[in-house]
Amino acid sequence: MIKYIKIIIIFAVILVIGDYGTLMAENTSKAQDVQHGVPIDKATLLPLADKTLSNAAHMIEEGRQTFRFDTFGDEAFWGDTIKLHQAIEGTGFGGVGPGVSPNTALAVGLKVDVNALPQELVQKLKHGKVDLGDPATTLALLKLNAVIGVTGFFNSDGTLKSMGIQCALCHSTVDNSLTFGIGHRLDGWANRDLNVGAIVALAPDLSVVVNLLKIVNPAITETDVRSVLNSWGPGKFDAEIFLDGKAFNPQQVTNGVVTGTNITGATLLPNAYGLAGVNQHTWTGAWGSVSYWNAFVANLEMHGVGSFFDPRLDDASKFPIAAVMGFGHIQSDPAADRITKKLPGLHFYQLALAAPKSKPGVDFDANAAVRGHELFTGKANCNECHVEPLWTEPGWNLHTPDEMKIDSFQADRAPDNTYRTMNLAGIFVRERGLFMSPDNKGRFYHDGRFKTLLDVVDSYNSRFNLGLTDQEKIDVVEYLQSL
Ligand code: HEC
Ligand code: HEC
Repeated sequence: MIKYIKIIIIFAVILVIGDYGTLMAENTSKAQDVQHGVPIDKATLLPLADKTLSNAAHMIEEGRQTFRFDTFGDEAFWGDTIKLHQAIEGTGFGGVGPGVSPNTALAVGLKVDVNALPQELVQKLKHGKVDLGDPATTLALLKLNAVIGVTGFFNSDGTLKSMGIQCALCHSTVDNSLTFGIGHRLDGWANRDLNVGAIVALAPDLSVVVNLLKIVNPAITETDVRSVLNSWGPGKFDAEIFLDGKAFNPQQVTNGVVTGTNITGATLLPNAYGLAGVNQHTWTGAWGSVSYWNAFVANLEMHGVGSFFDPRLDDASKFPIAAVMGFGHIQSDPAADRITKKLPGLHFYQLALAAPKSKPGVDFDANAAVRGHELFTGKANCNECHVEPLWTEPGWNLHTPDEMKIDSFQADRAPDNTYRTMNLAGIFVRERGLFMSPDNKGRFYHDGRFKTLLDVVDSYNSRFNLGLTDQEKIDVVEYLQSL
Protein backbone atom coordinates (compact mmCIF):
# COMPACT_ATOMS: atom_id res chain seq x y z
CA MET A 1 0.00 0.00 0.00
CA ILE A 2 2.69 2.46 1.03
CA LYS A 3 4.69 1.57 -2.06
CA TYR A 4 1.61 2.18 -4.18
CA ILE A 5 1.06 5.60 -2.60
CA LYS A 6 4.71 6.40 -3.16
CA ILE A 7 4.41 5.65 -6.85
CA ILE A 8 1.32 7.85 -7.13
CA ILE A 9 3.11 10.66 -5.35
CA ILE A 10 6.12 10.30 -7.59
CA PHE A 11 3.85 10.63 -10.63
CA ALA A 12 2.20 13.64 -9.05
CA VAL A 13 5.59 15.23 -8.55
CA ILE A 14 6.45 14.60 -12.18
CA LEU A 15 3.23 16.33 -13.19
CA VAL A 16 3.99 19.25 -10.90
CA ILE A 17 7.54 19.60 -12.11
CA GLY A 18 6.10 19.56 -15.62
CA ASP A 19 8.18 20.84 -18.48
CA TYR A 20 11.38 21.01 -16.53
CA GLY A 21 10.99 17.34 -15.63
CA THR A 22 10.39 16.36 -19.24
CA LEU A 23 13.45 18.26 -20.33
CA MET A 24 15.58 16.53 -17.73
CA ALA A 25 14.15 13.16 -18.72
CA GLU A 26 15.02 13.71 -22.33
CA ASN A 27 18.58 14.72 -21.53
CA THR A 28 19.13 11.79 -19.20
CA SER A 29 17.55 9.24 -21.45
CA LYS A 30 19.45 10.44 -24.49
CA ALA A 31 22.71 9.99 -22.64
CA GLN A 32 21.73 6.51 -21.53
CA ASP A 33 20.42 5.54 -24.93
CA VAL A 34 23.75 6.44 -26.47
CA GLN A 35 25.69 4.52 -23.84
CA HIS A 36 23.58 1.37 -23.57
CA GLY A 37 21.21 1.47 -26.50
CA VAL A 38 18.38 0.51 -24.13
CA PRO A 39 15.04 2.34 -24.17
CA ILE A 40 14.08 3.43 -20.66
CA ASP A 41 10.82 4.39 -19.06
CA LYS A 42 11.59 8.05 -18.50
CA ALA A 43 8.60 8.76 -16.32
CA THR A 44 9.30 6.12 -13.70
CA LEU A 45 13.07 6.30 -13.62
CA LEU A 46 13.47 10.02 -13.46
CA PRO A 47 12.56 10.67 -9.82
CA LEU A 48 14.44 7.66 -8.58
CA ALA A 49 17.55 8.82 -10.42
CA ASP A 50 17.09 12.42 -9.36
CA LYS A 51 17.77 12.95 -5.67
CA THR A 52 15.87 16.23 -5.56
CA LEU A 53 12.71 14.77 -7.02
CA SER A 54 12.75 11.71 -4.82
CA ASN A 55 13.31 13.97 -1.83
CA ALA A 56 10.27 16.01 -2.92
CA ALA A 57 8.15 12.88 -3.13
CA HIS A 58 9.32 11.76 0.28
CA MET A 59 8.65 15.15 1.88
CA ILE A 60 5.16 15.37 0.42
CA GLU A 61 4.31 11.90 1.66
CA GLU A 62 5.62 12.67 5.14
CA GLY A 63 3.88 16.05 5.23
CA ARG A 64 0.55 14.56 4.21
CA GLN A 65 0.81 12.03 7.02
CA THR A 66 1.52 14.81 9.51
CA PHE A 67 -1.22 17.10 8.19
CA ARG A 68 -3.82 14.34 8.37
CA PHE A 69 -2.85 12.27 11.37
CA ASP A 70 -0.28 13.88 13.66
CA THR A 71 -1.51 15.19 17.01
CA PHE A 72 1.99 16.27 18.07
CA GLY A 73 1.04 14.95 21.52
CA ASP A 74 -1.77 17.53 21.84
CA GLU A 75 -3.98 14.91 23.50
CA ALA A 76 -2.33 16.11 26.71
CA PHE A 77 -4.44 19.25 26.26
CA TRP A 78 -7.66 18.23 24.42
CA GLY A 79 -8.13 15.02 26.35
CA ASP A 80 -6.11 14.97 29.56
CA THR A 81 -6.61 18.66 30.43
CA ILE A 82 -9.97 19.90 29.11
CA LYS A 83 -11.36 16.33 28.88
CA LEU A 84 -13.18 16.80 25.60
CA HIS A 85 -13.17 13.02 25.10
CA GLN A 86 -15.47 12.63 28.10
CA ALA A 87 -18.09 14.80 26.42
CA ILE A 88 -17.75 12.76 23.23
CA GLU A 89 -18.34 9.37 24.87
CA GLY A 90 -20.99 10.59 27.32
CA THR A 91 -22.11 8.99 30.58
CA GLY A 92 -22.90 5.73 28.75
CA PHE A 93 -19.15 5.13 28.39
CA GLY A 94 -17.97 6.66 31.65
CA GLY A 95 -17.78 10.24 30.37
CA VAL A 96 -20.10 13.17 30.99
CA GLY A 97 -23.37 14.37 29.47
CA PRO A 98 -25.34 12.77 26.63
CA GLY A 99 -22.27 12.07 24.45
CA VAL A 100 -21.73 13.12 20.85
CA SER A 101 -23.67 11.02 18.35
CA PRO A 102 -22.66 11.06 14.67
CA ASN A 103 -25.69 13.28 14.02
CA THR A 104 -24.42 15.80 16.59
CA ALA A 105 -20.87 15.50 15.25
CA LEU A 106 -22.04 16.16 11.68
CA ALA A 107 -24.16 19.06 12.91
CA VAL A 108 -21.10 20.78 14.40
CA GLY A 109 -19.31 20.22 11.10
CA LEU A 110 -17.09 17.22 11.80
CA LYS A 111 -16.45 15.19 8.64
CA VAL A 112 -15.97 11.47 8.03
CA ASP A 113 -13.45 9.91 5.64
CA VAL A 114 -15.29 7.32 3.56
CA ASN A 115 -12.01 5.64 2.62
CA ALA A 116 -11.44 4.69 6.25
CA LEU A 117 -14.74 2.80 6.46
CA PRO A 118 -15.02 -0.93 5.75
CA GLN A 119 -17.27 -1.73 2.73
CA GLU A 120 -19.83 -3.40 4.95
CA LEU A 121 -20.27 -0.20 6.95
CA VAL A 122 -20.48 1.88 3.77
CA GLN A 123 -23.32 -0.34 2.56
CA LYS A 124 -25.12 -0.08 5.89
CA LEU A 125 -24.75 3.71 5.82
CA LYS A 126 -26.12 3.78 2.28
CA HIS A 127 -29.19 1.89 3.39
CA GLY A 128 -29.73 3.92 6.54
CA LYS A 129 -28.92 0.92 8.74
CA VAL A 130 -26.46 2.67 11.06
CA ASP A 131 -27.69 4.34 14.24
CA LEU A 132 -26.43 7.87 13.79
CA GLY A 133 -28.08 8.93 17.03
CA ASP A 134 -25.85 6.77 19.22
CA PRO A 135 -22.50 8.01 20.66
CA ALA A 136 -21.29 4.38 20.43
CA THR A 137 -21.25 4.84 16.64
CA THR A 138 -19.02 7.90 17.04
CA LEU A 139 -16.61 5.84 19.13
CA ALA A 140 -16.62 3.15 16.41
CA LEU A 141 -15.81 5.80 13.78
CA LEU A 142 -12.98 7.15 15.94
CA LYS A 143 -11.59 3.62 16.31
CA LEU A 144 -11.54 3.36 12.52
CA ASN A 145 -9.62 6.66 12.43
CA ALA A 146 -12.40 7.95 10.17
CA VAL A 147 -13.23 11.29 11.82
CA ILE A 148 -11.24 13.92 9.95
CA GLY A 149 -8.73 15.71 12.16
CA VAL A 150 -9.64 13.89 15.39
CA THR A 151 -7.81 10.94 16.93
CA GLY A 152 -9.26 8.92 19.79
CA PHE A 153 -7.01 7.12 22.26
CA PHE A 154 -8.81 4.13 23.75
CA ASN A 155 -8.75 2.14 26.98
CA SER A 156 -8.80 -1.64 26.68
CA ASP A 157 -12.51 -1.67 27.67
CA GLY A 158 -13.39 0.43 24.61
CA THR A 159 -13.93 3.70 26.44
CA LEU A 160 -11.94 6.79 25.46
CA LYS A 161 -8.76 7.54 27.36
CA SER A 162 -7.98 10.77 25.57
CA MET A 163 -8.22 12.55 22.24
CA GLY A 164 -6.12 14.80 20.03
CA ILE A 165 -6.61 16.99 16.98
CA GLN A 166 -4.79 17.51 13.68
CA CYS A 167 -4.35 20.22 11.05
CA ALA A 168 -6.94 18.42 8.90
CA LEU A 169 -9.66 19.20 11.45
CA CYS A 170 -9.89 22.81 10.24
CA HIS A 171 -8.12 22.69 6.88
CA SER A 172 -9.74 19.64 5.25
CA THR A 173 -13.26 18.73 4.33
CA VAL A 174 -14.87 15.90 2.33
CA ASP A 175 -16.65 15.74 -1.03
CA ASN A 176 -19.91 14.35 0.48
CA SER A 177 -19.66 11.36 -1.91
CA LEU A 178 -21.61 9.09 0.45
CA THR A 179 -23.84 11.62 2.14
CA PHE A 180 -23.49 15.10 3.63
CA GLY A 181 -20.36 15.08 5.79
CA ILE A 182 -19.11 11.66 4.64
CA GLY A 183 -16.85 11.41 1.60
CA HIS A 184 -13.31 11.56 0.28
CA ARG A 185 -10.83 13.87 1.92
CA LEU A 186 -10.18 17.26 0.35
CA ASP A 187 -6.96 18.39 2.00
CA GLY A 188 -6.40 22.13 2.17
CA TRP A 189 -10.10 22.98 1.76
CA ALA A 190 -11.16 24.94 4.83
CA ASN A 191 -13.99 23.22 6.67
CA ARG A 192 -16.63 25.96 6.44
CA ASP A 193 -19.10 23.97 8.54
CA LEU A 194 -16.80 23.24 11.45
CA ASN A 195 -18.01 24.93 14.61
CA VAL A 196 -14.74 24.81 16.57
CA GLY A 197 -16.12 27.03 19.37
CA ALA A 198 -19.20 24.86 19.92
CA ILE A 199 -17.00 21.75 20.00
CA VAL A 200 -14.53 23.20 22.52
CA ALA A 201 -17.44 24.50 24.60
CA LEU A 202 -18.53 20.87 25.13
CA ALA A 203 -15.35 20.19 27.13
CA PRO A 204 -16.19 19.53 30.78
CA ASP A 205 -13.15 21.31 32.23
CA LEU A 206 -12.27 24.68 30.76
CA SER A 207 -10.48 25.94 33.88
CA VAL A 208 -7.13 26.19 32.08
CA VAL A 209 -8.72 28.42 29.44
CA VAL A 210 -10.51 30.50 32.09
CA ASN A 211 -7.22 31.00 33.92
CA LEU A 212 -5.54 32.25 30.76
CA LEU A 213 -8.29 34.77 30.10
CA LYS A 214 -8.24 35.86 33.78
CA ILE A 215 -4.85 37.44 33.04
CA VAL A 216 -6.68 40.20 31.16
CA ASN A 217 -10.13 39.89 32.71
CA PRO A 218 -9.94 38.74 36.35
CA ALA A 219 -13.74 38.56 36.69
CA ILE A 220 -14.28 36.14 33.80
CA THR A 221 -16.11 32.89 34.59
CA GLU A 222 -16.34 29.52 32.89
CA THR A 223 -19.86 30.43 31.73
CA ASP A 224 -18.47 33.57 30.06
CA VAL A 225 -15.82 31.51 28.31
CA ARG A 226 -18.42 29.06 27.01
CA SER A 227 -20.54 31.88 25.66
CA VAL A 228 -17.50 33.39 23.90
CA LEU A 229 -16.75 29.99 22.33
CA ASN A 230 -20.37 29.62 21.25
CA SER A 231 -20.28 33.07 19.64
CA TRP A 232 -17.69 31.99 17.02
CA GLY A 233 -20.09 30.08 14.78
CA PRO A 234 -19.35 27.70 11.90
CA GLY A 235 -16.15 27.93 9.85
CA LYS A 236 -14.42 30.24 12.30
CA PHE A 237 -11.71 30.10 14.93
CA ASP A 238 -9.99 32.77 17.00
CA ALA A 239 -6.26 32.14 16.77
CA GLU A 240 -5.36 35.25 18.78
CA ILE A 241 -7.72 35.16 21.76
CA PHE A 242 -5.25 33.21 23.90
CA LEU A 243 -2.60 35.81 23.17
CA ASP A 244 -4.60 38.99 23.74
CA GLY A 245 -7.89 37.96 25.38
CA LYS A 246 -9.93 40.06 22.92
CA ALA A 247 -13.17 38.25 22.16
CA PHE A 248 -15.24 40.83 20.29
CA ASN A 249 -14.73 43.56 17.72
CA PRO A 250 -16.57 46.56 19.22
CA GLN A 251 -17.17 48.18 15.83
CA GLN A 252 -17.00 46.63 12.40
CA VAL A 253 -16.52 49.51 9.98
CA THR A 254 -16.48 49.42 6.18
CA ASN A 255 -15.87 52.63 4.26
CA GLY A 256 -16.65 54.78 7.30
CA VAL A 257 -19.99 53.06 7.97
CA VAL A 258 -20.48 50.96 11.12
CA THR A 259 -21.73 47.61 9.82
CA GLY A 260 -21.81 45.71 13.11
CA THR A 261 -21.06 45.99 16.82
CA ASN A 262 -19.53 43.45 19.20
CA ILE A 263 -19.05 40.88 16.51
CA THR A 264 -16.94 37.81 17.20
CA GLY A 265 -13.16 38.19 16.97
CA ALA A 266 -12.94 34.73 15.40
CA THR A 267 -11.86 34.74 11.74
CA LEU A 268 -12.89 32.48 8.89
CA LEU A 269 -10.72 29.39 8.52
CA PRO A 270 -8.57 30.05 5.45
CA ASN A 271 -7.80 27.42 2.84
CA ALA A 272 -4.45 25.71 3.08
CA TYR A 273 -4.11 25.33 -0.70
CA GLY A 274 -2.69 27.70 -3.30
CA LEU A 275 -0.12 28.97 -0.80
CA ALA A 276 3.05 28.46 -2.87
CA GLY A 277 4.78 31.67 -3.90
CA VAL A 278 2.84 33.71 -1.34
CA ASN A 279 5.09 35.67 1.01
CA GLN A 280 3.22 36.55 4.22
CA HIS A 281 0.40 34.34 5.54
CA THR A 282 -2.81 34.42 7.61
CA TRP A 283 -5.40 37.19 7.34
CA THR A 284 -3.15 39.73 8.96
CA GLY A 285 0.03 38.54 7.32
CA ALA A 286 2.80 39.96 9.40
CA TRP A 287 3.09 36.86 11.56
CA GLY A 288 5.26 35.28 8.88
CA SER A 289 5.52 32.46 6.35
CA VAL A 290 3.60 29.18 6.13
CA SER A 291 6.41 27.57 8.06
CA TYR A 292 6.23 30.19 10.82
CA TRP A 293 2.50 29.74 11.16
CA ASN A 294 2.70 25.95 11.19
CA ALA A 295 5.06 26.09 14.16
CA PHE A 296 2.85 28.70 15.86
CA VAL A 297 -0.35 26.67 15.43
CA ALA A 298 1.10 23.30 16.37
CA ASN A 299 2.56 24.72 19.60
CA LEU A 300 0.19 27.48 20.69
CA GLU A 301 -3.22 26.52 19.27
CA MET A 302 -3.16 22.75 19.09
CA HIS A 303 -0.97 22.54 22.21
CA GLY A 304 1.37 19.95 20.79
CA VAL A 305 4.76 19.24 22.31
CA GLY A 306 7.39 21.31 20.54
CA SER A 307 9.47 24.45 20.53
CA PHE A 308 8.54 27.91 19.36
CA PHE A 309 10.33 31.25 19.40
CA ASP A 310 8.92 34.72 18.76
CA PRO A 311 10.01 37.57 21.03
CA ARG A 312 7.31 39.79 19.51
CA LEU A 313 4.91 37.95 21.82
CA ASP A 314 6.70 39.56 24.79
CA ASP A 315 4.92 42.84 23.94
CA ALA A 316 2.59 42.98 26.94
CA SER A 317 0.48 45.83 25.61
CA LYS A 318 -0.39 43.90 22.47
CA PHE A 319 -0.25 40.31 23.72
CA PRO A 320 -0.90 40.54 27.48
CA ILE A 321 -1.60 36.82 27.91
CA ALA A 322 1.21 35.58 25.68
CA ALA A 323 3.71 37.90 27.41
CA VAL A 324 2.85 36.63 30.91
CA MET A 325 2.79 33.01 29.80
CA GLY A 326 6.03 33.22 27.81
CA PHE A 327 4.35 31.86 24.68
CA GLY A 328 7.16 33.27 22.56
CA HIS A 329 9.73 31.11 24.34
CA ILE A 330 8.54 27.52 24.29
CA GLN A 331 11.24 24.90 24.54
CA SER A 332 10.93 21.17 24.65
CA ASP A 333 13.70 18.72 25.12
CA PRO A 334 14.75 17.61 21.62
CA ALA A 335 13.88 14.02 22.50
CA ALA A 336 10.35 15.03 23.51
CA ASP A 337 9.78 17.61 20.74
CA ARG A 338 7.19 16.15 18.36
CA ILE A 339 6.75 19.22 16.16
CA THR A 340 10.07 20.66 15.00
CA LYS A 341 11.17 17.67 12.93
CA LYS A 342 7.79 17.61 11.18
CA LEU A 343 7.94 21.22 9.97
CA PRO A 344 9.89 20.66 6.72
CA GLY A 345 7.50 17.98 5.41
CA LEU A 346 4.43 19.89 6.56
CA HIS A 347 5.63 23.03 4.80
CA PHE A 348 6.34 21.09 1.63
CA TYR A 349 2.96 19.36 1.61
CA GLN A 350 1.05 22.58 1.97
CA LEU A 351 2.96 24.23 -0.84
CA ALA A 352 2.09 21.22 -3.01
CA LEU A 353 -1.67 21.57 -2.42
CA ALA A 354 -3.05 23.22 -5.55
CA ALA A 355 -6.24 25.29 -5.50
CA PRO A 356 -9.20 23.58 -7.19
CA LYS A 357 -9.98 24.68 -10.75
CA SER A 358 -13.40 25.97 -11.68
CA LYS A 359 -15.16 24.89 -14.88
CA PRO A 360 -16.56 27.30 -17.48
CA GLY A 361 -20.28 26.87 -17.99
CA VAL A 362 -20.59 25.24 -14.57
CA ASP A 363 -18.90 27.55 -12.11
CA PHE A 364 -18.78 30.71 -14.22
CA ASP A 365 -19.87 32.28 -17.50
CA ALA A 366 -16.84 32.26 -19.79
CA ASN A 367 -17.79 35.34 -21.86
CA ALA A 368 -18.54 37.44 -18.82
CA ALA A 369 -15.26 36.26 -17.28
CA VAL A 370 -13.30 37.53 -20.30
CA ARG A 371 -14.88 40.97 -19.83
CA GLY A 372 -14.29 40.68 -16.07
CA HIS A 373 -10.62 39.95 -16.67
CA GLU A 374 -10.26 43.25 -18.58
CA LEU A 375 -11.89 45.09 -15.70
CA PHE A 376 -9.85 43.27 -13.02
CA THR A 377 -6.60 44.43 -14.57
CA GLY A 378 -8.04 47.75 -15.79
CA LYS A 379 -10.89 49.90 -14.54
CA ALA A 380 -11.47 47.94 -11.29
CA ASN A 381 -7.76 47.99 -10.47
CA CYS A 382 -7.87 44.71 -8.54
CA ASN A 383 -4.63 43.50 -10.09
CA GLU A 384 -2.74 46.26 -8.29
CA CYS A 385 -2.86 44.05 -5.19
CA HIS A 386 -4.19 40.67 -6.36
CA VAL A 387 -1.42 40.28 -8.93
CA GLU A 388 -2.22 37.67 -11.59
CA PRO A 389 -1.63 34.71 -11.38
CA LEU A 390 -0.46 34.69 -7.74
CA TRP A 391 -3.50 36.75 -6.71
CA THR A 392 -1.48 38.55 -4.05
CA GLU A 393 1.55 40.84 -4.34
CA PRO A 394 4.83 39.18 -5.17
CA GLY A 395 6.91 40.62 -2.33
CA TRP A 396 5.32 42.54 0.56
CA ASN A 397 1.63 41.66 0.43
CA LEU A 398 0.29 43.65 3.38
CA HIS A 399 -1.96 46.73 3.62
CA THR A 400 -3.02 49.02 6.42
CA PRO A 401 -6.67 49.15 7.50
CA ASP A 402 -6.73 52.78 6.30
CA GLU A 403 -5.66 51.71 2.83
CA MET A 404 -8.36 49.03 2.83
CA LYS A 405 -10.92 51.46 4.37
CA ILE A 406 -12.01 48.93 6.97
CA ASP A 407 -11.70 48.86 10.78
CA SER A 408 -8.38 47.88 12.33
CA PHE A 409 -9.63 45.42 14.97
CA GLN A 410 -8.16 42.24 13.53
CA ALA A 411 -5.11 43.94 12.00
CA ASP A 412 -4.20 45.37 15.41
CA ARG A 413 -4.08 41.87 16.90
CA ALA A 414 -1.06 41.01 14.72
CA PRO A 415 2.53 42.29 14.74
CA ASP A 416 2.34 44.90 11.94
CA ASN A 417 -1.30 46.07 12.23
CA THR A 418 -2.06 45.09 8.65
CA TYR A 419 -4.28 42.93 6.47
CA ARG A 420 -2.84 40.56 3.90
CA THR A 421 -3.98 40.52 0.28
CA MET A 422 -5.75 37.16 0.20
CA ASN A 423 -5.04 34.72 -2.56
CA LEU A 424 -8.19 34.42 -4.70
CA ALA A 425 -7.49 31.01 -6.30
CA GLY A 426 -10.39 28.60 -5.87
CA ILE A 427 -12.69 31.31 -4.47
CA PHE A 428 -15.59 29.90 -6.54
CA VAL A 429 -15.82 27.05 -4.00
CA ARG A 430 -17.04 29.41 -1.29
CA GLU A 431 -19.26 31.46 -3.59
CA ARG A 432 -20.93 28.31 -4.92
CA GLY A 433 -21.04 26.68 -1.49
CA LEU A 434 -19.41 23.46 -2.67
CA PHE A 435 -19.42 20.65 -0.11
CA MET A 436 -20.72 22.86 2.69
CA SER A 437 -24.02 23.59 4.30
CA PRO A 438 -25.87 26.26 2.24
CA ASP A 439 -26.05 28.40 5.42
CA ASN A 440 -22.27 28.63 5.48
CA LYS A 441 -21.54 29.47 1.86
CA GLY A 442 -20.12 32.79 0.72
CA ARG A 443 -18.68 35.01 3.49
CA PHE A 444 -15.63 36.96 2.42
CA TYR A 445 -12.92 39.01 4.17
CA HIS A 446 -11.44 37.86 7.48
CA ASP A 447 -14.67 38.16 9.46
CA GLY A 448 -16.97 37.17 6.62
CA ARG A 449 -18.48 40.67 6.49
CA PHE A 450 -19.43 40.29 2.81
CA LYS A 451 -21.97 37.58 2.10
CA THR A 452 -21.36 37.23 -1.65
CA LEU A 453 -18.69 38.14 -4.19
CA LEU A 454 -21.05 40.75 -5.56
CA ASP A 455 -21.13 42.35 -2.10
CA VAL A 456 -17.30 42.38 -2.17
CA VAL A 457 -17.15 44.03 -5.60
CA ASP A 458 -19.93 46.48 -4.66
CA SER A 459 -17.92 47.50 -1.64
CA TYR A 460 -14.67 47.96 -3.62
CA ASN A 461 -16.68 50.01 -6.09
CA SER A 462 -17.75 52.49 -3.41
CA ARG A 463 -14.58 52.31 -1.27
CA PHE A 464 -12.33 53.07 -4.20
CA ASN A 465 -14.74 55.06 -6.41
CA LEU A 466 -14.31 52.67 -9.31
CA GLY A 467 -17.42 53.74 -11.20
CA LEU A 468 -18.34 50.19 -12.23
CA THR A 469 -21.76 49.67 -13.82
CA ASP A 470 -24.03 46.86 -12.56
CA GLN A 471 -23.08 44.70 -15.55
CA GLU A 472 -19.38 45.35 -14.97
CA LYS A 473 -19.69 44.28 -11.34
CA ILE A 474 -21.27 41.01 -12.45
CA ASP A 475 -18.50 40.50 -15.01
CA VAL A 476 -15.85 40.94 -12.31
CA VAL A 477 -17.68 38.39 -10.14
CA GLU A 478 -17.74 35.89 -13.02
CA TYR A 479 -14.02 36.44 -13.52
CA LEU A 480 -13.36 35.88 -9.79
CA GLN A 481 -15.17 32.55 -10.06
CA SER A 482 -12.89 31.50 -12.89
CA LEU A 483 -9.73 31.79 -10.77
C1 HEC B 1 -8.79 24.90 15.15
C2 HEC B 1 -8.68 25.16 13.73
C3 HEC B 1 -7.31 25.13 13.12
C4 HEC B 1 -6.38 24.11 13.19
C5 HEC B 1 -6.46 22.81 13.95
C6 HEC B 1 -5.28 24.53 12.37
N1 HEC B 1 -5.54 25.75 11.80
FE1 HEC B 1 -4.45 26.68 10.40
N2 HEC B 1 -5.62 28.31 10.54
C7 HEC B 1 -6.76 28.43 11.30
C8 HEC B 1 -7.20 29.81 11.28
C9 HEC B 1 -8.45 30.37 11.97
C10 HEC B 1 -6.29 30.52 10.51
C11 HEC B 1 -6.29 32.04 10.26
C12 HEC B 1 -5.59 32.71 11.42
C13 HEC B 1 -5.49 34.20 11.32
O1 HEC B 1 -5.51 34.76 10.24
O2 HEC B 1 -5.34 34.82 12.38
C14 HEC B 1 -5.32 29.55 10.03
C15 HEC B 1 -4.28 29.85 9.15
C16 HEC B 1 -3.44 28.92 8.61
C17 HEC B 1 -2.52 29.16 7.54
C18 HEC B 1 -2.38 30.43 6.74
C19 HEC B 1 -3.21 30.32 5.47
C20 HEC B 1 -3.07 31.51 4.57
O3 HEC B 1 -3.94 31.76 3.73
O4 HEC B 1 -2.09 32.22 4.70
C21 HEC B 1 -1.81 28.01 7.35
C22 HEC B 1 -0.72 27.77 6.34
C23 HEC B 1 -2.29 27.06 8.32
N3 HEC B 1 -3.28 27.62 9.06
C24 HEC B 1 -1.79 25.78 8.48
C25 HEC B 1 -2.13 24.93 9.52
C26 HEC B 1 -1.41 23.72 9.87
C27 HEC B 1 -0.22 23.17 9.14
C28 HEC B 1 -2.04 23.19 10.94
C29 HEC B 1 -1.61 21.98 11.74
C30 HEC B 1 -0.26 22.09 12.30
C31 HEC B 1 -3.18 24.06 11.24
N4 HEC B 1 -3.17 25.11 10.38
C32 HEC B 1 -4.12 23.79 12.20
C33 HEC B 1 -7.36 27.38 11.96
C34 HEC B 1 -6.76 26.16 12.26
C1 HEC C 1 -5.14 47.78 -1.92
C2 HEC C 1 -5.04 46.36 -2.19
C3 HEC C 1 -6.27 45.65 -2.72
C4 HEC C 1 -7.01 45.97 -3.85
C5 HEC C 1 -6.83 47.14 -4.81
C6 HEC C 1 -8.02 44.94 -3.95
N1 HEC C 1 -7.90 44.06 -2.92
FE1 HEC C 1 -9.08 42.46 -2.61
N2 HEC C 1 -8.17 42.13 -0.82
C7 HEC C 1 -7.14 42.89 -0.30
C8 HEC C 1 -6.92 42.53 1.07
C9 HEC C 1 -5.88 43.12 1.99
C10 HEC C 1 -7.87 41.53 1.37
C11 HEC C 1 -8.08 40.83 2.72
C12 HEC C 1 -9.08 41.62 3.54
C13 HEC C 1 -9.32 41.01 4.90
O1 HEC C 1 -8.43 40.43 5.50
O2 HEC C 1 -10.43 41.11 5.41
C14 HEC C 1 -8.63 41.31 0.16
C15 HEC C 1 -9.65 40.38 0.04
C16 HEC C 1 -10.38 40.17 -1.11
C17 HEC C 1 -11.38 39.15 -1.27
C18 HEC C 1 -11.83 38.17 -0.20
C19 HEC C 1 -10.90 37.00 -0.08
C20 HEC C 1 -11.37 36.02 0.94
O3 HEC C 1 -10.75 34.94 1.04
O4 HEC C 1 -12.35 36.26 1.66
C21 HEC C 1 -11.87 39.26 -2.55
C22 HEC C 1 -12.91 38.38 -3.19
C23 HEC C 1 -11.18 40.34 -3.18
N3 HEC C 1 -10.28 40.87 -2.29
C24 HEC C 1 -11.41 40.77 -4.46
C25 HEC C 1 -10.93 41.97 -4.96
C26 HEC C 1 -11.41 42.58 -6.18
C27 HEC C 1 -12.47 42.01 -7.08
C28 HEC C 1 -10.75 43.75 -6.31
C29 HEC C 1 -10.95 44.81 -7.35
C30 HEC C 1 -12.30 45.34 -7.43
C31 HEC C 1 -9.83 43.86 -5.17
N4 HEC C 1 -9.98 42.76 -4.39
C32 HEC C 1 -8.96 44.90 -4.97
C33 HEC C 1 -6.43 43.84 -0.99
C34 HEC C 1 -6.85 44.46 -2.14
